[in-house]
Amino acid sequence: MTHRKNTHLSVSVVLLSVFLIAIVFYNEDVLSLTQFPFSKTQLPESNINSAEYDENIIELPPDSCDIFDGSWVFDEVTHPLYKEEECEFLTRQVTCMRNGRPDSMYQKWRWQPKDCDLPKFRAKLLVEKLKNKRLLFVGDSLNRNQWESMVCLVQSVANPGRKSLIKTGSLSIFRIEDYNATVEFYWAPFLVESNSDDPELHSILDRIIMPESINKHGQNWKNVDYLVFNTYIWWMNTLKMKVLRGSFDEGATEYDEVDRPVAYGRVLKTWSEWVDKNINPNRTLVFFNSMSPLHIKSSDWDNPDGIKCAKETSPILNTTAPPSVGTDRRLFTVATIMIQSMKFPVQFLNITTISEYRKDAHTSIYTIRQGKVLTNEQKGDPAIYADCIHWCLPGLPDTWNEFLYTRIVSHS
Ligand SMILES: *[C@@H]1O[C@H](CO)[C@@H](O)[C@H](O)[C@H]1NC(C)=O
Ligand SMILES: *[C@@H]1O[C@H](CO)[C@@H](O)[C@H](O)[C@H]1NC(C)=O
Ligand SMILES: *[C@@H]1O[C@H](CO)[C@@H](O)[C@H](O)[C@H]1NC(C)=O
Ligand SMILES: *[C@@H]1O[C@H](CO)[C@@H](O)[C@H](O)[C@H]1NC(C)=O
Repeated sequence: MTHRKNTHLSVSVVLLSVFLIAIVFYNEDVLSLTQFPFSKTQLPESNINSAEYDENIIELPPDSCDIFDGSWVFDEVTHPLYKEEECEFLTRQVTCMRNGRPDSMYQKWRWQPKDCDLPKFRAKLLVEKLKNKRLLFVGDSLNRNQWESMVCLVQSVANPGRKSLIKTGSLSIFRIEDYNATVEFYWAPFLVESNSDDPELHSILDRIIMPESINKHGQNWKNVDYLVFNTYIWWMNTLKMKVLRGSFDEGATEYDEVDRPVAYGRVLKTWSEWVDKNINPNRTLVFFNSMSPLHIKSSDWDNPDGIKCAKETSPILNTTAPPSVGTDRRLFTVATIMIQSMKFPVQFLNITTISEYRKDAHTSIYTIRQGKVLTNEQKGDPAIYADCIHWCLPGLPDTWNEFLYTRIVSHS
């Protein structure tokens, strides 16, 4: 009995250490970085000529189809949706090929829903939808990962010299001048106020949050047409969350330690009330991304020779059951329950399971650390240096954006 307990304990300790190591490197990376109705829709015939007509028919999945239920299909004809070297806005954190990754299969998988097809991604159509509008991603570095993907997906529509990327404080704005359209990212890793809110200097292991305080950030999320929220990875370095007693502004430093799902629930309650109170459902579509998973233990997918995600070149293709890679599903449940209880019709983007299959898609050792691409020596030590949290671009976050695209073009 005692022996059994000890084994369990040491397994947990090992798991926790692996986690902590992953998080430390995650921090350094970050520090180093500066159900709507679906229907078949066609554009009005009046403003298109017949040669373009076919191009403009978009086949949308029917309402009844669960686009998140399906499988990964190798399809190098339609994917990737853009080339790494064609997107000048990609940061060195995610340009895996440029950083030395030898294999490129990870770019060529398409998500195939079981009961329908995702519509072909048409950048121009999306940018037309975004005309005079703002699309804002709010959250942590995984939402920033998705924002970078979205910038690359739409940037080809803009003429040279008619697009810009400007970063001011927590907000990064990509603008397409000729459409007066923006694709933006706002850094708020917990959504609510925390001691990790500095967009540059947030390499803080002792993370403390104020679960009931959101207005300071929230005032920057008003008058937006499409809002995409997430929060997950910053919750994962400790089992309990530190909750401040009082306010940072008043110099409070004491905190309580609260179980992770309880604190997550408090934060999402604050967030949901803020959305219900401040966002006009007649103007704005609101999305919430479920958790982006990590792949830090190769025994999770039965690869005895694996080192974290570093040796993986293909997805997990057995879809009999979702792979078990250590995702804290309790937070998934908290989020779905919270969203169902809201007045506002928030769209839940269920990206967790589809991403759990993608052990091959992380930046791994083909990324940066303290502003520099890993040295060969560092690349030789993936157990320490591989980033199995973030994703290469082009890559998996493009698929998350295909879901977002589907929802945005379906909504009229
Ligand atoms: C999310 O998607 C997975 C399949 O990708 C499915 O098994 C799961 O039931 C979905 N969850 C919700 C809440 O829709
Ligand atoms: C440009 O877009 C902004 C925000 O999306 C909007 O408030 C503004 O009215 C637009 N400008 C014009 C000239 O339409
Ligand atoms: C949204 O539109 C409906 C119907 O046009 C209207 O009754 C409602 O007051 C509007 N809501 C807001 C918050 O503007
Ligand atoms: C697929 O996964 C299921 C459940 O995880 C397992 O029982 C089955 O043996 C696997 N199939 C193959 C071919 O590996």
